[in-house]
Amino acid sequence: MSERKLRVGVIGCGIGIFHIEGLQQNPRAEIVAIAGLDTDRCVSLQTRFDVPRRYGDYRELLAADDIDAVTVAVPNFLHSEVAIAALEAGKHVLVEKPLAQSSAEGERMVETANRLGLQLGIIFNRRGRHDVQIVHNEMERGAFGRIYHAKAWWMRRSGIPGMGTWFTRKAESGGGPLIDLGVHVLDIALWIMGNPTAVSVSAAAYNELGTRGKGEWFNTRLRTGKTDAPYGVEDFATALIRFADGATLQLDTSWAGYTRHSDEFGASFMGDNGGAEIDVRDYAETGTLRLFGDVDGMPSVTTPMLIERHGHGYIISNFVDAILDGRPVSPSGSEGLDRVRLIESIYRSAELGREVQIGGLPV
Ligand SMILES: NC(=O)c1ccc[n+]([C@@H]2O[C@H](COP(=O)([O-])OP(=O)(O)OC[C@H]3O[C@@H](n4cnc5c(N)ncnc54)[C@H](O)[C@@H]3O)[C@@H](O)[C@H]2O)c1
Repeated sequence: MSERKLRVGVIGCGIGIFHIEGLQQNPRAEIVAIAGLDTDRCVSLQTRFDVPRRYGDYRELLAADDIDAVTVAVPNFLHSEVAIAALEAGKHVLVEKPLAQSSAEGERMVETANRLGLQLGIIFNRRGRHDVQIVHNEMERGAFGRIYHAKAWWMRRSGIPGMGTWFTRKAESGGGPLIDLGVHVLDIALWIMGNPTAVSVSAAAYNELGTRGKGEWFNTRLRTGKTDAPYGVEDFATALIRFADGATLQLDTSWAGYTRHSDEFGASFMGDNGGAEIDVRDYAETGTLRLFGDVDGMPSVTTPMLIERHGHGYIISNFVDAILDGRPVSPSGSEGLDRVRLIESIYRSAELGREVQIGGLPV
């Protein structure tokens, strides 16, 4: 194992705080600098975590030749620009979800990393959850048999993350809850299903509350936006995805809607030999997993005991180790691109109001 530390810069001072916390969990990582345009937030991060250097624009950080890798936590429309510039500056990159706003941007990111022989990873931090890890391990040991149907959902009762900020402008976010929250649970479902090849999708998207100024996030994570600003993305999307092996996935995702709970996400899996359900209310980390099987011919439900994990820490620490040990980063930029392609097809189906084919098949 290499004794050298990976010298890392963090770009973005919002959720970038989780990047710093995550990096601090791995003694093989050294946080060299942060960058962000919102000086107050960045100064407070620098002070709190004792980060040696702070920059404004990300290009200043990329010019530093003592930085091996960067983590990227900027608005979605900047992911590809920042990631490609970082790769071209010779740095490995770990980018927040979604990989990019569009598959064209994502393809350029993956192509640049491959061409330059650098690592591109994506932060699907929910993969670090203990319940998700258990279900993935159970799948790998064959406990479910063949998974033929899954459901994935992330539903918020009133959780639009900042009216009038980049989140609600399509050109800067790429979309609403589907690309923001749906991408997490879509990734969980696809990863546990063994990354099957999608062949078609039938979807619908709605914009019922956001355009009327309803459904803004009201808790402490509220961002300050202009509440009278135009709301340009969906507030609910639903999709049925078919895979080449015959399996199906139902995906529901909302930022705002008259539903039963303030914030719930999860995924359930039906296999021909067993099943599982992860059901997370208000970001709970324990009491969220049920495994379905048979005991002595009788239907059984098992509820494993779970431990809490720092999801970003899990992904970021793996990224650091993978680079220092010369292993491929997981989750990879290519997996991020696969999710963006699927999300794009979901939006396309919703726009056309009919099923669309995927993967080069005739539309
Ligand atoms: N994985 C998760 O659970 C999770 C949670 C929240 C957000 N995110 C993702 O993280 C990303 C950022 O979201 P956020 O909520 O932190 O957004 P935010 O708007 O709160 O923060 C964005 C940051 O980017 C910085 N920035 C913008 N342009 C820059 C530039 N040219 N140079 C340097 N810094 C620049 C801003 O100054 C700010 O610090 C988004 O892609 C979002 O999808 C992920």
